[in-house]
Amino acid sequence: MEITTEESIWFAACRVEDAVENGGVCVKYRDQQIALFYFTRRNEWYATQNECPHRKQMALSRGLLGSTGDDLKVACPFHKKTFSLRTGECLSGDECSLQTFPVKVEEGIVYIQVPLNNS
Ligand code: FES
Repeated sequence: MEITTEESIWFAACRVEDAVENGGVCVKYRDQQIALFYFTRRNEWYATQNECPHRKQMALSRGLLGSTGDDLKVACPFHKKTFSLRTGECLSGDECSLQTFPVKVEEGIVYIQVPLNNS
């Protein structure tokens, strides 16, 4: 199911029970891979590009999760560069960053908003 506005699309990524609790899963929107993260204790969802911008590995959904203060982060399994899940900023001091996407849950379905220019 898709809900389209002028600039973006909310697409149904998965059901809540299909998400990995306190972990990540890779979902696809057309030819784009998106890493979806679910933190059950905080009931927070995050979505970022799945491709690590360092060496273009499709790996972030399998990354190691952690936190810096209130900010949750993911570490790429390849070279351990870390990124803020909220902003996409690289926390390892590199210039690269992640594209992030809004997430919402309605009636047990997880929706991710992607810009139309990504579709
Ligand atoms: S490919 Fe992700 S840190 Fe190098």
